Amino acid sequence: MPRIVHPMAMTRPLPPRRAFLRGIAATFAFVAGCGRQSGGDSQLTTSAATSHALTEGEPLPMLDTLANASSDVSQFTASLVAEREDVAIVPGASTSMLRYNGRSPGPLIELAEGQHVRIELENRLDDSTTIHWHGLPVPSNQDGNPMDPVAAGTTRIYEFDVPRGTAGTYWYHPHPHDATASQVARGLAAPLIVRADDDPLAGIPEVLMFITGLKLDAQSQVAPDTPIDWTVGRQQEMLLVNGRRLPVHAVAPGATQRWRIFNATAASHLRLALEGHTFTLVGTDGGLLGAPVAGLAEFLLAPAQRAELIVRANGAPHGRYRLRALRFETDFLNLGTYQDQDLLTLATTNALPTPPVELPPVLRPIEDLGPPTAQQSVSLDEVADVCTSNGAKRTFLINNRLFDMNRVDLVTEVGRVELWNVVNNTAMAHPFHIHGTQFQLVSRQVGTDVTPSPYLAWLDTVLVPSQQAVTIKARQTLPGKRMFHCHILEHEDNCMMAILDVRPANGA
Ligand code: C2O
Ligand code: CU
Ligand code: CU
Repeated sequence: MPRIVHPMAMTRPLPPRRAFLRGIAATFAFVAGCGRQSGGDSQLTTSAATSHALTEGEPLPMLDTLANASSDVSQFTASLVAEREDVAIVPGASTSMLRYNGRSPGPLIELAEGQHVRIELENRLDDSTTIHWHGLPVPSNQDGNPMDPVAAGTTRIYEFDVPRGTAGTYWYHPHPHDATASQVARGLAAPLIVRADDDPLAGIPEVLMFITGLKLDAQSQVAPDTPIDWTVGRQQEMLLVNGRRLPVHAVAPGATQRWRIFNATAASHLRLALEGHTFTLVGTDGGLLGAPVAGLAEFLLAPAQRAELIVRANGAPHGRYRLRALRFETDFLNLGTYQDQDLLTLATTNALPTPPVELPPVLRPIEDLGPPTAQQSVSLDEVADVCTSNGAKRTFLINNRLFDMNRVDLVTEVGRVELWNVVNNTAMAHPFHIHGTQFQLVSRQVGTDVTPSPYLAWLDTVLVPSQQAVTIKARQTLPGKRMFHCHILEHEDNCMMAILDVRPANGA
């Protein structure tokens, strides 16, 4: 059973403002909680009176876990309510947010491989919504596609099985036609983890870092997207980790931790770097790699991507190290908004140093999907004068076509292994996402220079930088219509999406 560190465990009984004085760090202790059953604790109660989500330097909160209402461990049964609520984010103001079960980010869903899942969504919003289980191979009619809206004031049940071998780091978010960006910006997004019984890293304490963006206007309300946002993706968001601005994550010197980091921002490419430390990559979107990749000075997490990084904290007490998102992209519209940003501070306590934990040299087998028997070609294109009703200055399309939910753009067959060649002809990078499956990056291409992927990994989103191409190997296991799109949410809403029709094998 994996353990999740509760950084707040010792601070809860303290008077509010003392909760994060440096001296108190000495008393921090890590209480092992049981990941799957530990839900329900509210971390924000201690300092609710004086601290807000935007108060910097507060301890990194844990996210609540959605409780399983079923006593049968082979089932996961729960309900989610999506609702507009006024939340005190900024002192003296209330901000209208959209939340799942009164939380933003929403509750962590923890599933086990092989479980049958039944989650009821009650839509108390004023608009249609859906829940999309980003990265999971759920049946297409359970995947929250824009074709299957849940109307305001109604309820629906999502039901699916969690296949063996899918242990990994996922998330869920709305996917309604034309309104994904605004619903996510106002607070609807949450983590989902699938666990395996035989996780080789189960003994390493785990920390979730769910990164979202927040941009408020002068009235402390979530700012609507501007024409610039509609062009290049939402700009100038504050980055929050587990709903907090610049929190502090305190650990014993030398501690080894498994960080699951989620990029749930609309459009921020997070080039992650931790001062004074390197990362060991052990997992990507769809779970563990075959073997750890050690010594990474930085790791690029594109919008919608997730990673599992092993961090071994410096062995000296009272150290402070910023986890940063370094500038990734050139600023092709000269906005001046693409800058280094801080995410949180890793603080070592004065506890006795923890001895290093050895990682297993092998994590789990990842098999190459095998020889492809078909190819798909995708171009990412830039045009003017279409999809401009929201003020977008330029529009980005897939294969030069505007999204149409009644059209099929590409066709495949269940079980067929395909090479997808995705070419970015535009001036900016686009995170390319396919629903319903995890794929493998084969190579990247700049000009005529082809670089094979150095290792096999399961991905559902791959970044395609400007004027570059990627080749991926993909296979769908279930029939039905699947979305594929840019995961810059404004691009997804604004025409840069298409439909893959997965037909039963052998034309049956
Ligand atoms: Cu998170 Cu259609 O995707
Ligand atoms: Cu998705
Ligand atoms: Cu895009």
